Order: sequence, then structure tokens, then C-alpha cells
Amino acid sequence: MRDSLKALATRALAAGTLDGLPDRLWIDGAWRPARDGGRMESFDPGSARPFASFAAGAAADVDDAVASSEAAFAGWSRTPPAERARILARAAAMIREHADRLAVAECLDVGKPVGEAAGDVNGAARAFEYYAGAADKLQGDSIPLGPDYVAFTLREPVGVTAHIVPWNYPISTTARGIAPALAAGCTAVVKPAEQTPFTALMLAGILAEAGLPPGVCNVVTGTGEAVGAPLVAHEGVRHVTFTGSAETGIGVMQSAARNVTSVTLELGGKSPVVVLADCDMDAALAGVLGAIYENAGQICSAGARLVVERQIHDEFLERLVERTRGLTLGHGLRNPQLGPLSSAEHLSKVESHVKAARARGAEVVTGGTATVDPMTGAGWFFQPTILDDLPAGDPAVQEEIFGPVLSVQIAEDAEEALRLANCTRNGLVAGIYTRDLTTALRLARDIDAGQIYVNEYFAGGIETPFGGNRMSGFGREKGLEGLRAYCKVKSVTARI
Ligand code: NAI
Ligand code: MG
Repeated sequence: MRDSLKALATRALAAGTLDGLPDRLWIDGAWRPARDGGRMESFDPGSARPFASFAAGAAADVDDAVASSEAAFAGWSRTPPAERARILARAAAMIREHADRLAVAECLDVGKPVGEAAGDVNGAARAFEYYAGAADKLQGDSIPLGPDYVAFTLREPVGVTAHIVPWNYPISTTARGIAPALAAGCTAVVKPAEQTPFTALMLAGILAEAGLPPGVCNVVTGTGEAVGAPLVAHEGVRHVTFTGSAETGIGVMQSAARNVTSVTLELGGKSPVVVLADCDMDAALAGVLGAIYENAGQICSAGARLVVERQIHDEFLERLVERTRGLTLGHGLRNPQLGPLSSAEHLSKVESHVKAARARGAEVVTGGTATVDPMTGAGWFFQPTILDDLPAGDPAVQEEIFGPVLSVQIAEDAEEALRLANCTRNGLVAGIYTRDLTTALRLARDIDAGQIYVNEYFAGGIETPFGGNRMSGFGREKGLEGLRAYCKVKSVTARI
């Protein structure tokens, strides 16, 4: 970790907060309170204490934000793409300049280890760099119709876009949504999760300093019911990008449908990591550990199921359990390997999943209970946990737990591993560890998932499209695919 980040993290840990956090709504290029004066507190999951408050918006603030984004659309959509690109590129550089403060704010808000938060901040900067580079390359096609016609397509921005962001990756999810939207010429209204409002507000301030005109990106903080629901139902919104739970996503799709507003839904998963007997075991161990314990398992693309070939099951589990028991746990600002869960409510949800598994007779080989920061005795922590040898139909195999809980399934061979990999209603990502290229590519072909990682879990970045199949959602973010949701194609056909 850089010295400057370490120093700021140490100061924030001692103070229990970070000074100077934005704490109002960002609408039409200005900070302002919620119309009804509402406020909320944000908690530091590592200490279970509130550390800062922010504005709790409501429908009237959403109306203001959408009106502002509608008014800004005419100017922004006609701004030359190269100028849009320059502003986004400046924002990327400024995110890097403010990286320490952004990482510490993210760490306090989400709880995650500050080193992971710094990685997320870098990811947000990459999103702006990447889509800055794409802004002036949104070309259409020319279509041959014979000598009597000229036909071509235009890629036009869809209009005002809404971004509903969850609490697990606030800055990177916000960036991966708004960077392509702004590059394409859309305007944006961001609704951060009520648990983690700060980095979206900080990002809005940075974008303004980078030269983004007022109204092009508004941020309305507050709850899902008070802000999210009126935003996705607003007739001024032309696309909704939602990341979160399936239950909420289904409701978002239903309310967007009333205005025939398009949606991208990223709804999480129960992703398998297939580890075959011929794998590089060290690489597979590192991959499985990162896949389930990054952000304490609170990641849609967590490798929450280990599908391991029986031949190596005992050795692999023994080594995995040893490594799991050695993980350091504590307040995110001390940069441990495992931080807390995001809220008391979420902690009890994870706990009840594991209790139920135990009651069904599941073998808990390590972990299994809630715990606290060993330095302070506080915080919302859950031990890294492994449940061994579960049948395919077990709820711990089928349901998203969203915590540091790995469900192990044993396969006799690669064929059975494929069946087990596909045994849930989700289809977000899958990891494959094998040295056999043919087996790897066959599994990559046959596993139903939006993305496949071969021999390195979480491989790729902003360049690689990301999204789910089946109950994991639809639409793709990141990569050039990620621009599609923000463009509408117009074909122009002229008789000459
Ligand atoms: P959620 O899906 O309710 O929240 C996600 C976002 O949607 C938040 O910004 C929230 O304020 C907003 N929201 C809530 N109700 C809304 C509504 N009616 N209209 C518009 N926006 C609304 O998820 P929650 O309650 O935070 O977590 C529940 C579970 O969802 C977690 O335990 C986890 O399993 C899953 N989840 C999955 C995520 C992913 O990355 N796919 C991220 C967060 C949670
Ligand atoms: Mg918080």
C-alpha cells in the first residue's frame, strides 16, 4: 500500500471518520439539502458506529434531478464527442489525484479492506479512461442497397439514464454505469445505496471540476423506496441501469415497463469455480480464496461454489482450510485480508443461512459464526466459512448468501463438474482451473454464464463485457458492449 494512503487510513481510523465528506444532494451543478430537509446516517461496518450523515432525498428531489438532466441533455448530446472525451479523461486523472481520499471514504462506508477500496478507485479511473477513448468512436454502418439509395445508421444517445447502485462496490459500479452513458452523450441521475452514499457524491464533485456541465450528472442520495422507486418510474428516464438483488430488480423492471423504459439488470449469482484434478493447485487455491473472500464475499461475481474433482478433494480442502484459517480479519482501515459485512441486518442474514445449513446437517469445516474485530471487539464480522460436500439441491448451493461462505460440491469428473456448474438458476460467471486447454474451452462453451475465467478468477477488467444470464439478469456492462444500452440506432435511408 502507498505511504500516503496508509497515513490517511491511520488518521481516519483514529478519528473514526473522514473530514470534508460531501453530505448534500448534487443537483444541477450545486450542493443542496433534500427539499423536506431529510437526513440519514451512514455506518462504519468495522466499528458498527455512524461516522457521517447525508441528505435523504425523496420524490420531489428526484423530479428536480430528472428535470435538470433533461434540460442538460440537449447541450451534452450535441457536445462534440472529442470534447466529451477530454472531460472524461480529465475526470479519470482527477480520480487518481484524489485516490487516497476516495479509498478511505469507500473503506469507511462499505467496510472493505482499504487496499481493496484502492483497487476499486483505480477501476473507476479505468472506466473513465476507457470510455473517454470510446466517445469519438461510436460509428454507425453504411448499408448497401444498390445505386439508387444511400443508407446508414446513426448511434444516438438514449437520453436521461438512471443508475441504481448497490452498497458492495459503490464507486466502481457508479463509474462503470455513468462513464459509458456520458461518453455516449446521455445524461445521468445516480441513486447510490443508502448504506454507502459518499463516493458517488465525491465523483460528482470531481466530474464538475473536470468540466462536466451542470445537470449532466446528478446524484440523489436516500433510500430505495423514497428515491429509487420514483426515479425508475419517472417518465423522463429512458434507461435504467440497476445492480442489486433479483427481488428489487424485478420490481424495477416492472415499473420501468410502464414508460417502456429499457433496463439493464445485474442481479448477482451463485457462481461456480470448477477445479479439476489436473489443475495448477497453487493457482487454483489462490483463485478460490480470492473468489470467495474478496469484499468478504459481498460481490455478485463471488466464486461462492467450489466444484472440485473427487480425486483432489481431500488435499485441496485441507490446503484451502489452512489458508482460510490464516486470513487476517479486522477493521478495513487496517487493511486486513477480510473486512466486516456491510450492516447488522446483512450479517444476521448471512448467519441465518449458515445456521440453517448446520441444522440440515451440513459439514462446517471451518468458520461458521459471527465475530468482531479482534482489536476492538466491535463491528459486523463473519468468520470465513467452508461448507463441504453439499448436494446440488441444498439451499447453500442454490441461494446467494453474499458473505464469506464457500459451498463445496464434489464432482466425479469434468462431465459431472459441468452439470454441477450449471445446477442453479443463476448464470453470472464461472471459474475453471485445468491445464487441459480443450477441457477448459469445452467448459467455457457449455457453462451458462455471462463470463468465464480460465485459470485466473476475476481476470479481465473494464475492457471485458460483464453481465448475467437467467436469474442473474440481462444486458452487458463494461467493454464496448457496455455502450449499447446508452445508444439507440437510427437507420437513415435515402432514395437518390
Ligand atoms: P437491493 O437490490 O434492494 O438494493 C440495491 C439498490 O437498489 C440500492 O441502491 C437500493 O436503495 C435500491 N432500491 C431498493 N429498492 C428499490 C426500489 N423499489 N426501486 C428502485 N431502487 C431500489 O439490495 P439490498 O437490500 O441492499 O441487498 C439485498 C441482497 O441483494 C443482498 O443480500 C445480496 O444478496 C443482493 N445484492 C446483490 C448485489 C449485486 O452486486 N448484484 C449488490 C447488493 C445486494
Ligand atoms: Mg456505510
